[in-house]
Amino acid sequence: MFKRFSSAPALRGRPQPLRETPLREAPPLEAPARVPTEDGDHACKVVHDIAHRPLPDARVIVVANEKGGVGKSTLAFHTAVALADAGYRIAAVDCDPRQQSLARALAFREATARRLVVDLPMPTTTVFHQSSGAMLVQEIARIGWKADFVVVDLAGSDSPLARRAIALADTLVTPVNASFVDLDLLGRFHPTSHQVLASGFFARLVSDLRAERAAQGLADMDWVVLPNRQRGGTSANQQRFESALADLAQVAGFRIGSGLAERVAYRELFLLGLTALDLRHIPQLGAMRSPARGELRNLLADLGLDNPAHGRATALA
Ligand SMILES: Nc1ncnc2c1ncn2[C@@H]1O[C@H](COP(=O)(O)OP(=O)(O)OP(=O)(O)O)[C@@H](O)[C@H]1O
Ligand SMILES: [Mg+2]
Repeated sequence: MFKRFSSAPALRGRPQPLRETPLREAPPLEAPARVPTEDGDHACKVVHDIAHRPLPDARVIVVANEKGGVGKSTLAFHTAVALADAGYRIAAVDCDPRQQSLARALAFREATARRLVVDLPMPTTTVFHQSSGAMLVQEIARIGWKADFVVVDLAGSDSPLARRAIALADTLVTPVNASFVDLDLLGRFHPTSHQVLASGFFARLVSDLRAERAAQGLADMDWVVLPNRQRGGTSANQQRFESALADLAQVAGFRIGSGLAERVAYRELFLLGLTALDLRHIPQLGAMRSPARGELRNLLADLGLDNPAHGRATALA
């Protein structure tokens, strides 16, 4: 039999009504002054590691969020294909060797193109198996010579490798789902007023890396947060989330794109390696219409990549 705890006087008696806590009295939520650096991996060391190596000619798009399962690989795949569809040479780098979601989607794509005997715009694929950030920078520089854009998909965790990839980004893309749980690594919010209390760990990491890039003479990156799996509607929860995200954007310094809706197509076409943009390349499916197509065109506009003048790249055709 379990012994009952005897030291819980606070739980006895009449329940107290919940009271709205003014912001200044909010519980002390940890607002890290710096990104944790137990491993000695300071932002200045990370940026120093990349600033003293040859940088790629291609524009580097890094899809990252320390939070797992938010749609990084889905967005990396669709961004890579949408850019290839626009006529750019794309090198996709999968930095999650355990899951390899991006590399597998692109392998399925090649198999589908062979099976249907169609010509699909095809990014090249590299799976990065090492854990060395320095080697990743070298690899991106190497493949970046033959590409207009390098699209990097990171695993949902912090690591020296992830920090160097983020530090290298010209465009950093961070998908988020419409939930305060998913937003926790980007920002801390007051539990009832939803006012921004502090940046979360991931936002601090990005802001430290950006500050260090400026200090070491590198151009700033464009940080775009994309709401993913949106269900539409104008519920109070949705409005609270959107307004909290807009407030956080001011504090953390990112832009907010229109993002992607929750669509079966984004899940189901994975096994074929196809996107809605491919329908017109496949005679059997050419007549199909998909609202995802407009979303993917908006995606490039969201990232400021619908116009070659925004990037270092030049369109091929
Ligand atoms: N817009 C969307 N509509 C429907 N399903 C989606 C959408 N975006 C992502 N998904 C689904 O959500 C799940 C997680 O997506 P994904 O693997 O891209 O996330 P991730 O951030 O790369 O995850 P991890 O951190 O594990 O690498 C997958 O089942 C994917 O098909
Ligand atoms: Mg992934």
